[in-house]
Amino acid sequence: MKLFEKVEKKFIEIFNEAPLLVRSPGRVNLIGEHTDYNFGFVLPAAINKAIYFAISPRNDEKCDIYSLNMKDNFQFQIHELARSKKAWTNYLMGVVDQLNQEGFKIKGFNCVFGGDIPIGAGLSSSAALEAGLAYALNNLFNLGINKLELVKLAQKAENEFVGVQCGIMDQYINIFGQTNKVLRIDCRSLEYKYFPFNYKNISIVLFDSKISHSLASSEYNKRRKECREGVEIIRKEHSHVKSLRDVPIELLTEYKNKLNHEIYKRCKYVVEENSRLLNACDALMKNDLKTFGTLMSKTHQGLSEDYEVSCKELDYLVELTNNISSVYGSRMMGGGFGGCTINLVESNSVESLSDEILGKYRKKFKQGAKAYITTISSGTSIISKSEKG
Ligand code: GLA
Repeated sequence: MKLFEKVEKKFIEIFNEAPLLVRSPGRVNLIGEHTDYNFGFVLPAAINKAIYFAISPRNDEKCDIYSLNMKDNFQFQIHELARSKKAWTNYLMGVVDQLNQEGFKIKGFNCVFGGDIPIGAGLSSSAALEAGLAYALNNLFNLGINKLELVKLAQKAENEFVGVQCGIMDQYINIFGQTNKVLRIDCRSLEYKYFPFNYKNISIVLFDSKISHSLASSEYNKRRKECREGVEIIRKEHSHVKSLRDVPIELLTEYKNKLNHEIYKRCKYVVEENSRLLNACDALMKNDLKTFGTLMSKTHQGLSEDYEVSCKELDYLVELTNNISSVYGSRMMGGGFGGCTINLVESNSVESLSDEILGKYRKKFKQGAKAYITTISSGTSIISKSEKG
């Protein structure tokens, strides 16, 4: 039985009616890390791991939700929202809270959800929850919210209700993802461009360190602050500078001795990463995946040494791929401090490479890592009758 069928079956078992079915994917990010909240560029893609929602409207204000993975349920009233100790519920209540704040009139709903995005692996299961529910409610109650507004609403749910100051990348790609395409998002103008990414001989392989990034949200907010501090100082003498996006490397270099060393390193990483991403897109246009991969590996170095959001497990997973010719590029992905590395690997050596890396990782850390071979899928959508078969 497919995952969405399990979700649907559970829904019918509990609520005894036919639901609307929505698929909401996780994401990878090829290059452009920690650049979104600095108004730079990112290059994510939606993947073949997703959360599935089965949902139907109610006539009262109650929301009755069951998580298939957690085997746990939760109820709340639309106008009585309070943060809960059950972390998963906050992502969902955050969406309802935003709809309330924006003045949308919704009723309660019944919902079962479940999926296969590993939690804490940096594949954005949280954005999949937020944007997936926002998308589902938009359809269920005919709210008429356009795609970009849905993205912003889901991001605000995380910023305000969950309390993580994330950028816009994860929710954006969740809604805008397309099969076999990566999406370059300009996080300042919010314009975007799709690039085909469909190479038979190259696979996107994730190695999951299984280190859950518990430090992530506090250190994440700290990095944001450090970047802002850098901007504030440069801005005193260059009033047009509103974010690191407005700072060319030459200008930053002038500030090397005026900025605290740590802040300088953070800013340097971000400025370099934006130009790396643009070069990576040029390489992609030429189908030059070797250059693309080399840029990814440079990103890892920057994240590890200058931005300091890696950890020894992620560094080791990347190090193990060094000098292996079938790996074009390897780097930690997402917020950091755990989660996955993303690797571009020649398809015919994926299996042997995975065996080797997972074996060495277990030996060193006495703990298993996992490998996921991902394909690039579409963004959040309704599962149609024909897909249901
Ligand atoms: C998390 C955030 C994103 C982005 C990445 C780092 O995934 O949710 O907004 O900042 O970290 O690139």
